[in-house]
Amino acid sequence: MSSTGRGASAVPGGRASPGRGGMAPPGPPRRAAMGLFLKLVRDRLALMTSAAELYGDAVRISLGPKTLYFFNHPDHAKHVLADNSANYHKGIGLVQARRALGDGLLTSEGELWRKQRRMIQPVFQNRRIAQQADAVAEEAAGLVDRLRAHRGGGPVDVLGEVTAMTLGVLGRTLLDADLGAFGSVAHSFEAVQDQAMFEMVTLGAVPTWLPLPKQLRFRRAREQLQRVVDRLVAERAARGPVEGDDVLSRLIVSTREEADPRVGGRRMRDELITLMLAGHETTASTLGWTFHLVDGSPEVWDRLHAEAVEVLGDRLPRHEDLHRLRYTTMVVEEAMRLYPPVWILTRSAQGADQVGLYHVPRGSDVLICPYTLHRHPEFWKDPERFDPERFAPEGTASRPRYAYIPFGAGPRFCVGNSLGMMEAVFVVAMVARELRLTGVPGHRVVAEPMLSLRMRGGLPMTVRPAG
Ligand code: HEM
Repeated sequence: MSSTGRGASAVPGGRASPGRGGMAPPGPPRRAAMGLFLKLVRDRLALMTSAAELYGDAVRISLGPKTLYFFNHPDHAKHVLADNSANYHKGIGLVQARRALGDGLLTSEGELWRKQRRMIQPVFQNRRIAQQADAVAEEAAGLVDRLRAHRGGGPVDVLGEVTAMTLGVLGRTLLDADLGAFGSVAHSFEAVQDQAMFEMVTLGAVPTWLPLPKQLRFRRAREQLQRVVDRLVAERAARGPVEGDDVLSRLIVSTREEADPRVGGRRMRDELITLMLAGHETTASTLGWTFHLVDGSPEVWDRLHAEAVEVLGDRLPRHEDLHRLRYTTMVVEEAMRLYPPVWILTRSAQGADQVGLYHVPRGSDVLICPYTLHRHPEFWKDPERFDPERFAPEGTASRPRYAYIPFGAGPRFCVGNSLGMMEAVFVVAMVARELRLTGVPGHRVVAEPMLSLRMRGGLPMTVRPAG
């Protein structure tokens, strides 16, 4: 297995040059910076894809004052995310998102992160997630009811529907609250993501006090989210002594220990906003892309339908059904291969490092891109093709583990992966059991890489009975 790159020596100026503790990766010449910058603003997926195609598994991209180190080999991902993770903090995009998310689990570092992770992790243990299966199945049944109401009628925005459902699941399972009562929380999260991406692509050069429409929208969104969190906490307190074992209760109890109540209040807000953002967009994106991909494969719809009828009959799914919904799981896994909801993982090197053959100076921005890694031709045959069979046990066993990282890797591995997978598999099985969703002719589905991989303009689909 080579980790030196696919096109490294094919491009003039792209040859690796020796450096301290490894070579400098090849990459476009500095004079190309303006073109690259425009691509970063307009088409980030194309930028990453062509960088990997032209320069191989390690690419140095100079953008004005910043130099990005983009690594695209499973060994590199393992090194940065797991083996030497202590050398890396969260990087561009997430650093900017911290303005909205504060020091929640996704963006915090060091001792604060460890403490919060220890406190929150137990809520996501498999045993606890299994207990949430009924609530997830009921929310999924609500979604199927809403979709069924559109049977034979005009198109419905499936992405909007699954987003409402995943927020509903979070409210019930983690917060013991009905988030539907808080209005358009999903829109506020969109504004937060928009701003984080804007700050990322402008490399933080635009002052945040400028009254640009985007920034004003962001401020309003942040205020709305803070109001939602304050209300959640107040409503819980009004119900009497806090004893539950959901995230909200654990946070209330833990932040009471904070000497300064303002610090405790801020920590609670950061953590709840983070969990709501990280926990609903990702699963909704997985579902949107799954339905879109399956729409192009009638035989996959047929197999999904057959499995759901056989395993579930006409009852709601239970946690123990998950391992029998094997094909459904493979379909969801393949959708997350082609369209990983977290399409890029950004890190900032705290000290100099050597990644594979390459030197990474201290302070560099390091990028690992699941979107390109999951399409690496050395590990995925015919990578653009949607083929759930890749996730049959033989296929999975034949690949390096870090060739597929939709939930990240190492200590910052997704805390909510079991919940996200259970939701996605239940929803796909329950929809396929009785319905078939079809894309609207003329509507082009376009990926929009924000903090998560969204679909520009949603996913309008028509609904008809299965079979
Ligand atoms: C299919 C659904 C999901 C996908 C694909 C996904 C993906 C990811 C990825 C790739 C990371 C690592 C980010 C990094 O290393 O920079 C992550 C972290 C995280 N995810 Fe998820 N996620 C999903 C569902 C969820 C759910 C349901 C929740 C919570 C309810 C959640 C909460 C989090 C949190 C809090 C982190 C930060 C963990 C830490 O740094 O300690 N995710 N997720």
